[in-house]
Amino acid sequence: MPARHDIDSERELWDTFAESTKDKVFEAEPVFCWTQYAGHGLGAELLGDPATVLGIGCGTGRALAYLAQRGVKATGVDLSPVMVANTTERWGPLGARFICAEVLDHLSTATDTYDAIYSIFGAVWFTDPAKLLPLIAERLNPGGVLAFSHPPAIPGAYGPQGMYKGGFAGKAMFTYRYSYTPRKWQNLLLKAGFTDVDATVVDAPEPGHIGTLIVRATV
Ligand SMILES: C[S@@+](CC[C@H](N)C(=O)[O-])C[C@H]1O[C@@H](n2cnc3c(N)ncnc32)[C@H](O)[C@@H]1O
Repeated sequence: MPARHDIDSERELWDTFAESTKDKVFEAEPVFCWTQYAGHGLGAELLGDPATVLGIGCGTGRALAYLAQRGVKATGVDLSPVMVANTTERWGPLGARFICAEVLDHLSTATDTYDAIYSIFGAVWFTDPAKLLPLIAERLNPGGVLAFSHPPAIPGAYGPQGMYKGGFAGKAMFTYRYSYTPRKWQNLLLKAGFTDVDATVVDAPEPGHIGTLIVRATV
């Protein structure tokens, strides 16, 4: 049976995440980091020198705020109305714009195009790439960049990985994380019309700790 997304339930789940990460919106400073380790690895330079950027599943919005501070026209899409209300209040004055929408709905109805689209542990991780990647390719300007990061797949666990929210009791709320090898991501991106695909796992700062899958491709 294929993955069955229930967007209302996922939104509720992400609203809870938004409540729990409020301090990372209101008590944090703008920062752009692809990995889960502060200051580790490349930064926004992976996007090139874009004038316009769309962050998908932009969460706390810190990365988008970082770009807005540097004069980039920065737009973020996120499923959680709680998160979007928080990020709009915190980062809106810097010029970042936040839209509350499901990423597939947004990309299939919006008409704006961007020099770069990115996801840091964001919507690319939680959305079927067979549906998402072609929509992203359509919304990028010629030569535009897609870049994303999230943890590497656990060996032997590929495709949509279901995750229940919180413990294993109570209302059944779940989401999916789409996990693939770098080689599989490369094939998915080429099939969706991207070129110059680079997909690698960057090691964690400490040996044996969880690394980060970082992917960059252009149209
Ligand atoms: C792990 S958080 C992103 C973390 C982010 N890098 C940050 O700094 O906060 C994932 C975000 O993706 C959003 N998200 C998940 N599925 C989505 C979807 N289908 N469409 C849009 N946003 C989605 C969630 O609402 C959540 O805010």
